[in-house]
Amino acid sequence: MATVEPIGGPRRVAPRAGRVDDQFGHTVVYEGEVPRHDVHTRLVHWGVAIFFILSLLSGFAIFTPWLYSWLSPLFGGGPMARLLHPWFGLGFVVVMILLFRRWVNDMRWKDSDNVWMRRMRRYITHEDKVEPDYVGKFNAGQKIWFWTMMVSGIVFLITGIPMWFPEIIGRTPMWISYFFHDVAGLFMLGGFLVHIYEGTAAMPGTFRSMVRGTVTRAWAWTNHPGWYRQITGRDPKTDLEQANRTQSERRAP
Ligand code: HEM
Repeated sequence: MATVEPIGGPRRVAPRAGRVDDQFGHTVVYEGEVPRHDVHTRLVHWGVAIFFILSLLSGFAIFTPWLYSWLSPLFGGGPMARLLHPWFGLGFVVVMILLFRRWVNDMRWKDSDNVWMRRMRRYITHEDKVEPDYVGKFNAGQKIWFWTMMVSGIVFLITGIPMWFPEIIGRTPMWISYFFHDVAGLFMLGGFLVHIYEGTAAMPGTFRSMVRGTVTRAWAWTNHPGWYRQITGRDPKTDLEQANRTQSERRAP
């Protein structure tokens, strides 16, 4: 990837088309696209997703008798689900630490995120065709999901260890741990459902960023104009207007 040196430090400029390499592979960028998540990030994200789903399903299998009969056969029975669940949980914490290291800088809270929060209703109801200019690589909603996940991960770890070895810490701390562990689990489940919706049906063109690693330029200037400006050095509004003009010229008889 080429770099230029604007005022305020180096800026990464996305190639028009080509190949972006990282230590785990390469991302192919076609004409009209920009790279969004490199192979390293995609692998870590899917590692988080796999361990999360395994932890969730094995956790629900032992959480309620109603789900027990449906879910425990997936893991070879109830005792096996009980045995595997803490190991899935540990795997989840490890990949979460890797995800934290990849994204902590992009997820820092800024003043503009407070402004975004005040207009969240407009975002949910799709009132604006394009996001405001200050929206960078991740919007405030995505940052909240990231930090909810991190806090819940810490709660899972702190409460999971006493539940794993109840004979060491006694019954009262164990029951307190059960309570917070389950509350964190329900929070994560709610966030997870919203996250899947936002990453697929709500915003077409987003899912591919975690599969192929790229998004279209139109997706970038529509949903993350500040990030588009940062990586391409181009004005998102000008490019949007240009694209609209080209489209209407093509439609004209
Ligand atoms: C299994 C279904 C999942 C799908 C379809 C999915 C999809 C995606 C996509 C497409 C993105 C990129 C969004 C963008 O570039 O703007 C993303 C980002 C992210 N994913 Fe997932 N994901 C899934 C599971 C998970 C799980 C289980 C977690 C954590 C427990 C997770 C945590 C995150 C985080 C923190 C981000 C960055 C913030 C955001 O974009 O919301 N994902 N995911």
